[in-house]
Amino acid sequence: MVDWRKPPRLFIPGPVLVKEDVLQQLARPTLGHRGKEYAQLHGEVIDMLKKVLFTNQHVFLVTSSASGMWEASIRNCVDFNETVLATCCGAFSDKWADVIKSCGRNCDELKVEWGQAVTADMIDKKLASGKYAAITLVYNETSTGLTNPLYEVSEMMKKKYPDVLVFVDAVSGLVGLPMHFDQLGWDIVFASVQKAFALPPGFTVAAVSNRAMEKCKKVPQRGYYFDFAPFVKSNEKNQTPTTPSIPHIFGLHYQCTKLVKEGMENVWKRHKEMGDYTRAWAKEKFGLFCEEKYASNTLTTVKNTRGVVVADIIKAVQEKHQTAFGNGYNKLKEVTFRIAHMGDITLKDLKELTGWIDSELK
Ligand SMILES: Cc1ncc(COP(=O)(O)O)c(C=O)c1O
Repeated sequence: MVDWRKPPRLFIPGPVLVKEDVLQQLARPTLGHRGKEYAQLHGEVIDMLKKVLFTNQHVFLVTSSASGMWEASIRNCVDFNETVLATCCGAFSDKWADVIKSCGRNCDELKVEWGQAVTADMIDKKLASGKYAAITLVYNETSTGLTNPLYEVSEMMKKKYPDVLVFVDAVSGLVGLPMHFDQLGWDIVFASVQKAFALPPGFTVAAVSNRAMEKCKKVPQRGYYFDFAPFVKSNEKNQTPTTPSIPHIFGLHYQCTKLVKEGMENVWKRHKEMGDYTRAWAKEKFGLFCEEKYASNTLTTVKNTRGVVVADIIKAVQEKHQTAFGNGYNKLKEVTFRIAHMGDITLKDLKELTGWIDSELK
């Protein structure tokens, strides 16, 4: 019988496992969000996030899941007569294109087959028209388990299209994959915290460039809750425009302290090791859904080459070991399945999980 009080250990690609010591941070006594104690907490978290995201520009603490930032990026930084190039390579990048249209902006889509990457060449060909004010990119497509080559894309864009604003959904990429915000020349990057930050869902961190803020001032009707201008103003006082989810910020403080101490190079290396292990297992027992060159270090989308009933294996592992991994997303259900290897998940955890899946295969 299902009991929400006794959930499985989560290896789904978000929310992922949140450790007990992290959860306890969220239970700290609450603070008044206009008080000095909160301001101290806020300032410390922003300072650490700047180190984690490699930026000296703006960092926002946003009380919403990441989908809010899909909308915010468009409503703040794209005018109604401008056109956005949305790159689409899976379920989440496709959804962002829908959000652009729902905000009443013009949107052209650069679509590739699910499982393929969006490359610098493809983008170059589209941007050459000179038609686009901004581009949307998904760093790590959670449906296909693919990391787009965004360092190459960014180099190309800085050289050839320096005026096009760059918005990046790094939801399942941050902080498991390399990300140097200022150096990459991006304008907005964001991630909700239920992925590699390994916190419960409902909160998002974002980095926003000075250039994006200049643009924002010229865009009318930016809405209320996600208007970037008050975020910058409030940050000056170490506050947020509206009452934030303070428990999440306690959790972020704890997690960022660990990240800074470990060093981001080491954090990325740790994720690569987990990716290498999971990919090796997947290739031996099944196959990879996307080309290995682009396979993600934060989650693996495994191709169900054996034609097993994925739902049955998920059910068995959950019943026997109180552990859950993910079926394929949307049209990839049963055709693939997904294992998260990010945040506070360890190699030891992954060995245990893959061992249990192996037992079910027998
Ligand atoms: C790549 C990507 N973008 C956006 C989202 C939506 O994020 P949220 O559920 O935090 O709104 C997800 C959710 O899994 C995602 O994986």
